[in-house]
Amino acid sequence: MSIIDPNNIPPHHLHRVLLSAVAPRPIAFASTIDSMGKANLSPFSCFNVFGVNPSTLIFSPSRSGRTNELKDTYHNVKEVPEVVINIVTYSMVEQMNLASTEFPRGVNEFFKSGFTPLPSEKIKPFRVKESPVQIECKVRQVIETGDGPGAANLIICEVLLIHVNDKVFDKTGMIDTRKLDLVGRMGADYYVRASGRALFTLEKPSGKFAIGVDSLPENIRMSSVLTGNDLGRLGSLQSAPTAPEIERFLTSPVFRTITTKNSGNIEKITEEAHKLAHAMISNNELKEAILLLLATSSLDVRDL
Ligand SMILES: Cc1cc2nc3c(=O)[nH]c(=O)nc-3n(C[C@H](O)[C@H](O)[C@H](O)COP(=O)(O)O)c2cc1C
Repeated sequence: MSIIDPNNIPPHHLHRVLLSAVAPRPIAFASTIDSMGKANLSPFSCFNVFGVNPSTLIFSPSRSGRTNELKDTYHNVKEVPEVVINIVTYSMVEQMNLASTEFPRGVNEFFKSGFTPLPSEKIKPFRVKESPVQIECKVRQVIETGDGPGAANLIICEVLLIHVNDKVFDKTGMIDTRKLDLVGRMGADYYVRASGRALFTLEKPSGKFAIGVDSLPENIRMSSVLTGNDLGRLGSLQSAPTAPEIERFLTSPVFRTITTKNSGNIEKITEEAHKLAHAMISNNELKEAILLLLATSSLDVRDL
């Protein structure tokens, strides 16, 4: 591992390291207006949701790393503390990228990028018609983290109203991630498209108890066949097989086949059992997999 001390590298290098590592980031396509009512639209990936009571979104138009200048979005929310945060889908990326051009203050990026401004209901800045989720917010607080190049300015927003295109709802009235086709920002010029094979599900741990990886015997934890994900799934079981269950499994056809085939060779038996357990885990057969593994690790050369 290399060690990077943020105090010993140039800020542009640090920016690259952190933004590559802390990714993918969602994109806030922020629509604001200045005190003269001039519209502005810019993307910010230093953005996330931090709570729902009160509902809190934070994004950061930071000071320019090159010129130390403050961004128009920052000036606008100081003048008019309101913003519409529009989410960005794959079909919007090219125009969104165009809107990030550092046009002079007062230039309307809705027109430059070709997006359609829609009036909001509770605040003055416009919504982006093409975005399937448009969030009207009031700005509660602005925190400047520094005054040098690259310093963040945290715009802390409270949600007033959320507009959702009906097309992205599922049958239960919840937003269906598969219908959104969101994009996230990675390091350098990389983005990620959150759709198709890129999406996967992971069930939340079911109860208040899990046996934990630490309860597995060392030869299972140190297996060269089982992966960290395999161990994670075994460790999330709510109970381990009992000694009589393991004892019974020793006489099962599947276990007998492995031991007979590799007669007496404990390394080969272990390797084959771990390979089979790995396949069983991928197949959601967790109970069988842990029985096979524990039965194998209970074997003593004398038993063979
Ligand atoms: C996808 C994307 C994400 C961006 N994220 C940020 C960010 O989090 N903070 C930032 O200061 N600039 C970010 N930028 C650059 C700004 O969008 C750019 O500086 C823009 O011109 C600022 O506009 P404004 O001066 O009108 O506010 C991002 C650009 C893109 C394309």
